[in-house]
Amino acid sequence: MDEYEIDDKTSSIPFTARLMAYYRAIESTRENALITDPFAERLAGDMESYFNKHRRARGTGDYTIVRTHYIDNYLLASWCNEHKESQIVLFGAGLDARAYRFEPLKHGRHRLFEIDFDLINKYKSSILKDETPLCELVRVSADISELRWITDLEKTGFSHETPTFWLLEGLVYYIDQIKVESILKTTSTNCPEESQMFADVCVPGLSLAQFGPFMTHFKWGLNKEDVPAFFARTGWNVVCAFADDYDQGRDVGQRGLIFVNGKRDLSLLDILENTISEDAPVKKIPPEFESLSINFLRDVIAEVHVIVESYKGNPDDGMVRYLQFINRVKPTVEIMMKSFSEPLSIGHISSRLLRDPATVVLHTPDEKEAHIVGYLKALMFLGFCVAKGIAGEHLSSMNIYIEGQKINKINQLCSLVQIIQQEIGNS
Ligand SMILES: C[S@@+](CC[C@H](N)C(=O)[O-])C[C@H]1O[C@@H](n2cnc3c(N)ncnc32)[C@H](O)[C@@H]1O
Repeated sequence: MDEYEIDDKTSSIPFTARLMAYYRAIESTRENALITDPFAERLAGDMESYFNKHRRARGTGDYTIVRTHYIDNYLLASWCNEHKESQIVLFGAGLDARAYRFEPLKHGRHRLFEIDFDLINKYKSSILKDETPLCELVRVSADISELRWITDLEKTGFSHETPTFWLLEGLVYYIDQIKVESILKTTSTNCPEESQMFADVCVPGLSLAQFGPFMTHFKWGLNKEDVPAFFARTGWNVVCAFADDYDQGRDVGQRGLIFVNGKRDLSLLDILENTISEDAPVKKIPPEFESLSINFLRDVIAEVHVIVESYKGNPDDGMVRYLQFINRVKPTVEIMMKSFSEPLSIGHISSRLLRDPATVVLHTPDEKEAHIVGYLKALMFLGFCVAKGIAGEHLSSMNIYIEGQKINKINQLCSLVQIIQQEIGNS
């Protein structure tokens, strides 16, 4: 008996994968459809009764559709046309049916790899067994959060010499940031120069929001200005845009999701790796900044406690106090930033500090909290790095974990203060 016929064929398939296919199925019936996927309905299964039975939120498919439309029309069509031979790797391919529906795949010789869990792959193969893909199709069963995914991919015929388009569509915010960095580095170091990638990332506020069918599972986010440095660290030279800039009139939210497209550039990886490696010479910061930074750090530490307490009492009061504080320290921050020879030298802290935080528009309480936490962390790192006379990349990133827990909530800031106080001691 077919293992999927025991109950509902799709019952064991992750809800989000089915939901994506459901959105594509609905879109395909629209008069002015942005994309058409004739396989989506079959792949999604009976979602209507699933929604009713499980009382699951349906969400809106607009973002998914706009993203697929963007990838297909702005990136993949020209990729397929410009390459006689290429590889396309779909991470977390889910129930994506591009291999069967995306006509540009017929030009040239393209090999499409779909990576997902075995359960998904088996289900998909069983549903589409009578269909013919438009290009060579390889399904790879692997857990991409484990390092061995690349070995699994190689075993199925992946070549390091063939130009490759890596597609991380609707995926990275579900996987720990540190693992995403490792995945991205593995992609850039296992393909030739002209390769490309796409990923979409969310802003930190969305990952903190924790609601709806998708965002409940979001683990992390990046502000748009921090995106290039994050990807550069993994060997990708990227450009990015908010999804709303490509929304085709659909509702994709405002300034929450970011499309990232990049070309492989290992020189970025080299520069950044050399500066953060254990053996790299520690960059010295001119000594005249030392006393300034110690006083600054003491000021920040004292103020963090006041802001945290004030925020806990009333978030609006906390926000006012925070904005007053950052206005007051702005001139000092600018002087201390000058102690770094180039902005890159403090990694992705720099862009955050170079922007005027008071100009950022914050809508929800979560966005406000994320902003306060991110900025105060950045200030503490800046003061710490300058006080210690080292370049900031030795602290490598803003994602500081204390006892395995990422600091991203206001009440965790005091733990960071304690650690920094211990580190600077009596200096
Ligand atoms: C939201 S769905 C997106 C599917 C597809 N990209 C699409 O647009 O239809 C996410 C997919 O990623 C897969 N996935 C999540 N974590 C994964 C992991 N660690 N290894 C492999 N696949 C994973 C899930 O099984 C699921 O099919």
